[in-house]
Amino acid sequence: MKCRVCRGPAVIDVRRQNANYCVEHFLRMCRDQVNKAIEQFAMLNPQDRALVAVSGGKDSLAVWDLLSEAGYEADGLYVGLGIGDYSDASRGCARRFADQRGLELIEVDLLEDFGFDLPSGARAARRVPCSACGLTKRHLFDKAAVQGGYDVVVTGHNLDDEAAVLFGNALRWHTDYLARQLPVLPERDGFPKKVKPLVRLGERETAAYCVLRGIDYIVQECPLAAGNRHLGYKEALNEIEATSPGTKFDFYFGFLARAAALFRPIAEADHQNLAGCLGCGAPTTAELCAFCRLTERATRAGRGAGAGAEVDGAAVLSAHRGPVADGA
Ligand code: AMP
Ligand code: FES
Ligand code: ZN
Ligand code: ZN
Repeated sequence: MKCRVCRGPAVIDVRRQNANYCVEHFLRMCRDQVNKAIEQFAMLNPQDRALVAVSGGKDSLAVWDLLSEAGYEADGLYVGLGIGDYSDASRGCARRFADQRGLELIEVDLLEDFGFDLPSGARAARRVPCSACGLTKRHLFDKAAVQGGYDVVVTGHNLDDEAAVLFGNALRWHTDYLARQLPVLPERDGFPKKVKPLVRLGERETAAYCVLRGIDYIVQECPLAAGNRHLGYKEALNEIEATSPGTKFDFYFGFLARAAALFRPIAEADHQNLAGCLGCGAPTTAELCAFCRLTERATRAGRGAGAGAEVDGAAVLSAHRGPVADGA
């Protein structure tokens, strides 16, 4: 196996590109793909202050590393969800990475700051954990970015993630989600700009990037996600990719080039109905945003049946007042 660039011994093959790479040229390919995504979708300006949402996993640490190495001002944001040992270990990876490089890591903790952890919150709200988790993270990313005056929120979503989500949304024709499934969402109506610079890289590549760069990331998957639909879609796409390399890339980038714009009017209609959440001020289409509703149910359950069943709007208000945002 020879490197496509220098013909030296290769350490990894990237079948989608029909290419093998040595360490140096693999790392260069990763940087090039990230730069290309940033340019292709106008993700970042050189002077932007970026807030990178870091889970302690390979993707978010890789994107934080790539952006800081490229000279961007990029702080990290870790959200502690209270998922037992998994959260402790992932927080450890995020902190170590930041400490070793002298980078700033902002931490938000669901239990300490809002009075509930994700497993009990999801139970109380009768939501699938991953759905409660997704809305919580989106809300807290937006809130931290707006409060910290950041220009953009960066997440580590990679090509496998985006293709799997697209696959799931297309299977059920969730047109409202398809309308928002873009590598860049502009700043708007109180929501910060959001970007996904890893959309041109697969998860095998981001894992290899971390190993080759000596980045210690949490390998364990979230225990609450086991068996969820999203993982099933990933496996299905991996089977197709194995016999037909490049399918995932063509599926996702074909959607962006040829179909995404068709769903835009739906996203526009959603924006028309936005108003400030009565609990926290975040833009939402309901009276209370999804995060305030989750907090209300979770903390009410935590206070026990004796505390009564009424909605405690004051508790919601005092728990997280401020200009925050919830949504895509
Ligand atoms: P996931 O929703 O787990 O697929 O993660 C998607 C992206 O969200 C990751 O690449 C990170 O950028 C971000 N993320 C996930 N979990 C956390 C967390 N606990 N704290 C901060 N960012 C996170
Ligand atoms: Fe969100 Fe597991 S990290 S449900
Ligand atoms: Zn080489
Ligand atoms: Zn709210």
